[in-house]
Formats: sequence, structure tokens, C-alpha cells
Amino acid sequence: VVVFDEATEADLPALLAIFNDVVATSTAIYQDAPASLEERTAWWRARRDGGFPVLVARADDGATIGYASYGPFHERSGYAGTVEHTVMLAAEARGRGLGSALVAALLERAAHEGLHAMIGLVDGENTGSIRMHERLGFVEVGRLPEVGRKFGRWLDLVYLQHRLG
Ligand SMILES: CC(C)(COP(=O)(O)OP(=O)(O)OC[C@H]1O[C@@H](n2cnc3c(N)ncnc32)[C@H](O)[C@@H]1OP(=O)(O)O)[C@@H](O)C(=O)NCCC(=O)NCCS
Repeated sequence: VVVFDEATEADLPALLAIFNDVVATSTAIYQDAPASLEERTAWWRARRDGGFPVLVARADDGATIGYASYGPFHERSGYAGTVEHTVMLAAEARGRGLGSALVAALLERAAHEGLHAMIGLVDGENTGSIRMHERLGFVEVGRLPEVGRKFGRWLDLVYLQHRLG
């Protein structure tokens, strides 16, 4: 049984490990260098202070095996109804519905908060994530060719949008 919970400071080392594993092994995050605990702590504090969710998934043994969050899409006031989200799982937790369940929980929270739209920025090679999002009702609304670079090649960025009604 996996439970979803609001992240606390104690979850941050696990979130850092998940983030840095994705940085090291995939094009899902357009960054080469690992993040530091200080940087992830600042990110978590900004989300918390802004009233935005950082959900963690905890396994039976208490291990933090994934997280999902949303925050401002753009700082200008007219964008306040739109948020940008992220979802990351530990390698051993992938492929059994957990990513879908975390993003579904974010969508529910966003709708409850009266938000209007959620946007995900997904690497064009990340077909697993694109498919997962499309199954949840996200629609591809933009594809920016060669705006990112990692592992010696240019990468296309896909914008996926879910309107919350
Ligand atoms: C992307 C990620 C969040 C997906 O979560 P997940 O729990 O593995 O995905 P789910 O089990 O919920 O998959 C739901 C659907 O998405 C699709 N999907 C997910 N991963 C896939 C993959 N690697 N290849 C093909 N399809 C995939 C499938 O259609 C699946 O439905 P199905 O089980 O009926 O076939 C997770 O694999 C992950 O954290 N990956 C590394 C980091 C990352 O890429 N994050 C997203 C950045 S945008």
C-alpha cells in the first residue's frame, strides 16, 4: 500500500536522490549537474510558502518513492490560474500506476483550489510520460524544437495542458 502525504523537510533527502537519479540517467530534466540539498530545500520552501502542494508517495516501509508538485507557470498576475507541475518516481516504483495516481491527485487538488489549467513541460523523447499524461486527459498544445540540450544532442520540449473546467 502506498500512501500520499504532504512532503516534510524529512522527505527532502529522498526527493533529492530521486531528482538526481533522473538527472543522471535521462533527458527528463534539462540539467547536467546534480542538485544540492540546499537547492531542493529552497524549492520545497518556496512551494510551501506559496501554498502549493508537494505530494510524496510513501511505501509500506515508510520509504519515500516518488513525488509530484505544482507551482506558478509564470510570475505575472494574469497567469495565476495556471500552474506547472512535475512528477518523479524512484526507478523501482515506475510502471505500476503510481505516476498516474500522483498526477490525478494534483489535478484534484488544483480543481479544488479553483485553478484553471495545469501545464507539464515534457521532453519529446519521454514517450512514457507523454502517454501517461494523455491518458489522464492532458493534450499536447505545443512542441518547441531543439530548445534543450543534454547528452550531446538537441531536445524538443513538449507542452501538455489539462484544463480544469
Ligand atoms: C514518467 C513517470 C512519472 C510515469 O509514472 P509511472 O507510474 O511509471 O506510469 P504509470 O504506471 O502510471 O503509467 C500510466 C500509463 O502511461 C504509459 N507509460 C508510462 N510509462 C511508460 C513507459 N516507460 N513506456 C511506455 N508507456 C508508458 C502507459 O500507457 C501506462 O498505461 P498502461 O499501464 O495502461 O500501459 C515515471 O515513470 C517516472 O518518474 N519516470 C522518470 C522521471 C520522469 O520522466 N518524470 C516525468 C517528467 S515529465
